Amino acid sequence: MTDQSTMTDETTARAVPALPDAQTVTAVTHYTDRLFSFRVTRPASLRFRSGEFVMIGLMGDPHPETGKQKPLLRAYSIASPSWDEELEFYSIKVEDGPLTSRLQHIKVGDEIILKPKPVGTLVHDALLPGKRIYFFATGTGFAPFASLLREPETYEKFDEVIITHTCRDVAELTYGADLIAELKSDEMMVELLGEENLAKIRYYPTTTREQSPTMGRVTTLIENGRLFADLGVPPLDPAVDRAMVCGSLEFNKDIAALMEAAGLREGANSEPGEFVIEKAFVG
Ligand code: A2P
Repeated sequence: MTDQSTMTDETTARAVPALPDAQTVTAVTHYTDRLFSFRVTRPASLRFRSGEFVMIGLMGDPHPETGKQKPLLRAYSIASPSWDEELEFYSIKVEDGPLTSRLQHIKVGDEIILKPKPVGTLVHDALLPGKRIYFFATGTGFAPFASLLREPETYEKFDEVIITHTCRDVAELTYGADLIAELKSDEMMVELLGEENLAKIRYYPTTTREQSPTMGRVTTLIENGRLFADLGVPPLDPAVDRAMVCGSLEFNKDIAALMEAAGLREGANSEPGEFVIEKAFVG
């Protein structure tokens, strides 16, 4: 390092204070004009259970009068599994969203803020033992399941793993479809999770606004029985079926009503049940 670059570094360090809880972006992938994913370094001390979320964000603009900057944070499900050495996130881009309007422009080498306090209910501990697990997702609600699908515990606990993903159009399914294809083809993943376990995955993508092999909201396909007919499984049974749900508030409410109608009870970390719910966070 030359003297000059040292000086520059010091000057920069004084002018732009390092972010608190900073992590460095290691990869960014854009899927559509509404969706992208990114990976960041993982704090050495961060332990989490697959399916949990953390608060992440960027420093806000300086206050016009005081010049003070406050962190702009939102809850994001960790999309990578607990064993991964980096952290992955899957995000929507909201044009006038305070955070995502800026976050969508991050590049490799940039820093984001990450509060290392993972929490959440989409965890195996919040479910009673069962045979078949349903992961119900819409949009970016796929993120916690991207974590859980790469988590060996999922396959230790269940004989069948059904992941449904409802999106507006086919392009919005890409992140999930690619991930599942990679799980089954990537040598490291096959070795880690086991071929027999990967064969437990049943992927059920549906679209609502563009033609695809399965059209319609998954809630409708549960109500009219098509989901079960397509998969060749019996209707929901609280004795063997478990579910995790992640989507918009309205989606979560609708699925919860369907689960309860089938006799499943909502669980929590403190009291495990037959299904659990988490909101897909937007902003
Ligand atoms: P729809 O196109 O009928 O609104 P979004 O991109 O708005 O977050 O929605 C993601 C997907 O979730 C869309 O396919 C949308 O269908 C679907 N969706 C939204 N609300 C519900 C709900 N209450 N029940 C089932 N699916 C829903």
